[in-house]
Amino acid sequence: MQFAKSLLAGVVLCGMVAVSATASEADLVKKGEKIFNTKKLGNCLACHDANGKKINSPGSFGPKLQYLSAWPEKALYDKVYNPYTTNPISAMPPFGLNGWLDDEQIKAVVAYLKTIK
Ligand code: HEC
Repeated sequence: MQFAKSLLAGVVLCGMVAVSATASEADLVKKGEKIFNTKKLGNCLACHDANGKKINSPGSFGPKLQYLSAWPEKALYDKVYNPYTTNPISAMPPFGLNGWLDDEQIKAVVAYLKTIK
């Protein structure tokens, strides 16, 4: 009986861990979306249409972001960190290199970018 009880506790505990793992992934995406849309943070929306949201400034010039779920995470990270590595004349600022976004913030943005169909 004692054994059955601890087994049950183990199952409940595992269930909780699994739930909190998906919750934190969702939190990360939410955090990334906020950075993407917030002027003082990423302000990516100044240059990119994404997920049906329209660019929030006139005279912007980034491509519409789509199909990013197919990109490897590292490629997205590198793009946000420093776009010049893939495009030396990119008009996109190097958010990581400039110190505008830290490692954690870029990871959150990448989690959000991965949700862009
Ligand atoms: C000043 C305008 C500008 C801002 C702000 C900007 N970008 Fe860009 N972005 C561009 C341009 C221009 C390109 C296309 C040239 C290139 O690939 O470097 C681009 C390309 C990209 C690409 C590659 C898209 C593809 O299909 O090849 C990604 C991903 C991206 N940007 C993400 C972001 C994220 C995330 C942010 C915010 C942290 C951001 N951008 C902010 C201008 C901008």
